[in-house]
Amino acid sequence: MKDVILVENVWKVFGRTVALRNISIKVSKGSVFLLMGPNGSGKSTLLKIVTGLIKPSRGKVEVFGTNPWKQRHRIFTHLGAMFEDHAPPDWTSGKAYLEYKSILKKAENPEKEALAVAKPFGVDTFWKHPFYTYSSGMKRKLALADAFINDPDLVILDDPTVALDKEARLALQEIVVNRAKQNKTCVIASHIITEFEQHITHLAFLNLGQTIVTGKIEEVMDKVGIHQVTIRTNKPGKAAAILMKKRYAIKVYGNTIIVEGSEDANEIVKLLENLGIKAETEESKVNLWEMYTRALTSR
Ligand SMILES: Nc1ncnc2c1ncn2[C@@H]1O[C@H](COP(=O)(O)OP(=O)(O)OP(=O)(O)O)[C@@H](O)[C@H]1O
Ligand SMILES: [Mg+2]
Repeated sequence: MKDVILVENVWKVFGRTVALRNISIKVSKGSVFLLMGPNGSGKSTLLKIVTGLIKPSRGKVEVFGTNPWKQRHRIFTHLGAMFEDHAPPDWTSGKAYLEYKSILKKAENPEKEALAVAKPFGVDTFWKHPFYTYSSGMKRKLALADAFINDPDLVILDDPTVALDKEARLALQEIVVNRAKQNKTCVIASHIITEFEQHITHLAFLNLGQTIVTGKIEEVMDKVGIHQVTIRTNKPGKAAAILMKKRYAIKVYGNTIIVEGSEDANEIVKLLENLGIKAETEESKVNLWEMYTRALTSR
């Protein structure tokens, strides 16, 4: 399947600052793609290039097979985006703004669409007031609602959870997960991420404008040297004791045991079952922070 986003050898230079150095990433359809890196690593710059808001200095960028800088109008209705500097005119109400954007995005019923995207984040509770009266969290919620107008095939969210309350974070998580089930793509940039950890399918770690590692979660775990097996058992205490005796490094979370440094789940399950302990393998729990730390320090 064709990639939704293709970035090849992209550079971005602002005066004397090289913000992006030869970045290459691919985002496939239906993925929940995390772009993670320290402050100033180039996340927002890259996402603005992908959205067609700024021009790359060098390199190739395609979104749905189209050059976003030259032909932004062709991707505009399929792409929703939110950035930290999202700012409607001060005097516009959130309602008027979302309805206006819904018209631009060719929604069948702009008023209905505006309400549909406002509701999950509670924007409709304050949206009759002008934008300049909004708190930072309210501004973020409006920007998020905007990004989801017409349920676009691709949504780009730059640091979406900053300033958001818990309800809005959960609402966002639910939307992203549901979209992935419908094979719709989300790219999320962050320097810290917790809610999405278990839902991320692909990622790229950036540092100093460069891609340190990118790919599917499992590929990245492999590349940064995280090998682990997760098993579930009804006798975690006994199982842990056996595994420790066999010199496995383990972590126990309730009925779940993570066995580090091993990739052979069958061997571990067999070992336990031979000693009368029921065990089954589970999909591996992803520890993004560990992956991130390893990726950044291995350079
Ligand atoms: N318009 C601009 N003019 C000059 N330099 C810029 C501009 N935009 C970004 N930069 C520089 O490019 C680099 C990357 O910035 P960018 O905003 O992409 O980082 P980021 O990874 O999004 O950081 P953060 O986590 O703080 O949001 C930084 O050194 C920044 O100062
Ligand atoms: Mg940024």
